[in-house]
Amino acid sequence: MKTPTTLGTPLSPSATKVMLLGSGELGKEVIISLQRLGVEVIAVDRYPNAPGHQVAHRSHVINMADGAALEALIALEQPDLVVPEIEAIATETLVALEAAGKVTVIPTARAAWLTMNREGIRRLAGETLALATSPYRFANNLDELKAACSAIGFPCVIKPVMSSSGKGQSKIDGADEIEAAWAYAAAGGRVDSGRVIVEGFIDFDYEITLLTVRALQQDGSIATHFCEPIGHIQVQGDYVESWQPHPMHPEALLRARDIAKKVTDNLGGLGLFGVELFVKNEMVWFSEVSPRPHDTGMVTMASQQQSEFELHAKAILGLPVNVALRSPAASAVIYGQHDAKGIAFEGVADALRVQGVDIRLFGKPESFARRRMGVALATADDVETARIRAKQAAAKVKPVIVE
Ligand SMILES: Nc1ncnc2c1ncn2[C@@H]1O[C@H](COP(=O)(O)OP(=O)(O)OP(=O)(O)O)[C@@H](O)[C@H]1O
Ligand SMILES: [Mg+2]
Repeated sequence: MKTPTTLGTPLSPSATKVMLLGSGELGKEVIISLQRLGVEVIAVDRYPNAPGHQVAHRSHVINMADGAALEALIALEQPDLVVPEIEAIATETLVALEAAGKVTVIPTARAAWLTMNREGIRRLAGETLALATSPYRFANNLDELKAACSAIGFPCVIKPVMSSSGKGQSKIDGADEIEAAWAYAAAGGRVDSGRVIVEGFIDFDYEITLLTVRALQQDGSIATHFCEPIGHIQVQGDYVESWQPHPMHPEALLRARDIAKKVTDNLGGLGLFGVELFVKNEMVWFSEVSPRPHDTGMVTMASQQQSEFELHAKAILGLPVNVALRSPAASAVIYGQHDAKGIAFEGVADALRVQGVDIRLFGKPESFARRRMGVALATADDVETARIRAKQAAAKVKPVIVE
């Protein structure tokens, strides 16, 4: 693992160069944090004018799932660090380049590779590390899916092995729904691998994201830091609301941290991880992990002294981090509501008049009805009030089509 020991001047021979693979709203905030430290940032995405492109030194538009294109761009830019922000990239190429000593991938190329496929991370967690997970089976066709569902039982959740944000995912209550779930998964998978995971449905009390940071200490060893738990609500596999801190039974919190430590120790490297966990009483199940900032963690822009983006930026550069909470806070997503390019937002002033509120608009060039275009953040003395404020503010922002 190579970390820059000194920071240079951007656009000069001493520059510390970081390449973001994926430049959405999460990448944009990581870039802003890196810019504050004078890091030279190269933002890459599959479409022009992505949010992160708008705040980087240089931007590129490539198909990041194309290994040859990715390798050529890395050879051209020679970044000190490559930081994946999304799952859908040619991670085998990153593994090969890292093995050849040509690149340092955050946190590691293997972590990016394992977590882009539900099978990789689930087998690591459930089999290699023997952590508690929902029961699971894999299937490659409808017959295998029927057998897998009857082995797991109902209700169960069917997901393409390669997909995110709930795409292609369905919860089914009986055998009569299997065929529709198979068709839905085939349509929603990122790569048409036709492989799905069937998971037993966990009837959890609540779910959390445990942001976990691996950062260098003064003696050169790596320490693991845990942020306060983030509670969240998902609708159709997509996050709509999050808050921090989420109160937990002390035993459940210990188990959550133990799971997060084991998973992140195995994945290795430096940086922030979003460990997704289901909780019922004192029981905790591992669900999945992002080796990068997590969408539910946008709340930390209001709740923590250092947001998850700043924590990631600092940790990957080998700098110390501070995971302290600043205030209870909440976030609520602002959706596009329209399918249109170049939309406008009315009501931002009204939203900002709600006590304790701040707003982020991501600057995405094209809106879709269910595309996340911004987020409302709110602080308060308690999480319940913060959630009310964030939702009130988000509702006041009205996306409109500009004729
Ligand atoms: N086995 C399960 N039991 C109960 N609920 C589940 C299960 N699997 C998924 N869910 C629900 O669906 C949500 C999305 O699932 P998951 O995180 O696996 O999908 P995803 O597509 O990776 O979503 P994202 O990319 O937004 O994290 C979970 O946060 C949880 O609310
Ligand atoms: Mg998830």
